[in-house]
Amino acid sequence: MAAGEEVLAKGWVRTKRGNKEIAFIALNDGSTIKNIQIVVDKNPETEAVLSKISTGACIGVRGRLVESVGSGQAVEIRASEITVYGECDPMRYPLQKKDTSFEYLRTVAHMRPRTNTFGAILRLRSQMAFAIHEYFHSRGFVYLNTPLITASDAEGAGQMFQVTTLPLENVPKDKKGRPDFSKDFFGKQTSLTVSGQLEGELGATALGEIYTFGPTFRAENSNTPRHLAEFWMIEPEMAFYDIKDNMDLAEDFIKHLVKYALDNCYDDVKFLSDRYDPELIERLQSVIGTEFVRLEYTEGIKILEEAVRNGVQFEYPVSWGVDLQSEHERYLVEKHFGKPVILTGYPKDIKAFYMKQNEDGKTVRAMDVLFPKIGEIIGGSEREADLQKLESRIDELGMSRRNLEWYIDTRRFGSCPHSGFGLGFERLLLFVTGMQNIRDVIPFPRTPKNAEF
Ligand code: 4AD
Ligand code: MG
Repeated sequence: MAAGEEVLAKGWVRTKRGNKEIAFIALNDGSTIKNIQIVVDKNPETEAVLSKISTGACIGVRGRLVESVGSGQAVEIRASEITVYGECDPMRYPLQKKDTSFEYLRTVAHMRPRTNTFGAILRLRSQMAFAIHEYFHSRGFVYLNTPLITASDAEGAGQMFQVTTLPLENVPKDKKGRPDFSKDFFGKQTSLTVSGQLEGELGATALGEIYTFGPTFRAENSNTPRHLAEFWMIEPEMAFYDIKDNMDLAEDFIKHLVKYALDNCYDDVKFLSDRYDPELIERLQSVIGTEFVRLEYTEGIKILEEAVRNGVQFEYPVSWGVDLQSEHERYLVEKHFGKPVILTGYPKDIKAFYMKQNEDGKTVRAMDVLFPKIGEIIGGSEREADLQKLESRIDELGMSRRNLEWYIDTRRFGSCPHSGFGLGFERLLLFVTGMQNIRDVIPFPRTPKNAEF
């Protein structure tokens, strides 16, 4: 749009200020971090309209676009007609200047998209989702929708939300006194999915390369800044990929997404950087421009043990066999290497049943991508393609083979080497936005004791 044109702008008022002759309104329609300045000449008629306009009000403005004399914007609108769609009582509006803490804004998550910060975050979220679909689509991956309601615990961690229509106050019991799930809606015990991977493998062993992108649920009672009970995960799964191909894809994928954010969402990233995190842009650029470290778990443990000997203090102890805590992951990434690390060859006892076992009988071909400020951002592996090995691992872990027959069929009929991984969408957004708490990169967070809005 060029100066001189007649325009109609509709949006929400960010601020109103002015003097005796003139009023300035900063208007935002949510499409960008930038407001458009509205200039209104005061007279009895406009004063009446202006009296109804305050921060948060929704208005429509007709007027002429003119070059701005003030600094801060190239053009502004000289208003000729203003419609007030919705007034906003300044005394009761939940978004007040005096409390803009993230903690407070979480309590008014129904209103926080109106703030500059959440506008930027939510636009970034949308752009990144698009970039993910585009990345896979342009490489011939098939987008596969996996079920949200499932009868299997893919990760075997038992952190599932049960789905039932049985009456809780009077649950029908079987002969042994246990809940009788044959009377339940699906005729068996069901839960919300913790991962679409197992069904993803069915897709990959037929279509070659697939990805899923959907909501994922975990009833882990961990109140951390990196865990949600409902989050979104992207899970590509590829036939004929070994662990190395898997790592290459993960590294390329995540670099592509970070670069996409800088190339396509620069205004929003810059806003968040200026306001909260001066090193954000540098951190994003450094990830794009560097080769990720690839390290065996065993070597990682040696580095951490050495650090402890040199006086570094961790809350949780480290030794071969333990699952790494985010403090350990961040030490490797931020202190030791100063760049992202892909850790492989984890002990089989701390990883899921489906991972390909190494010759040593102790480790599996797992890979976790560890990021600065975040810790684990991606988890994945090469999959066990050997029927016998898979079945014996399932038995060893005391899992029920009966519920997994459909999955095991992929190894019975035309089994093939394959690999995949899962990227936590909100962990990616934490990285790209520089936010500190995962509750602030999803519109309506679900965490223990919190399902508001
Ligand atoms: O490492 P995870 O548990 O791996 C899987 O679920 C595999 N089935 C993935 C696969 O190989 N297809 O989870 C993958 C990623 C983690 O690295 C993390 O980024 C994210 O999902 N994640 C969570 N994000 C937010 N809140 C939680 N509670 C999360 N749990 C995992
Ligand atoms: Mg993991």
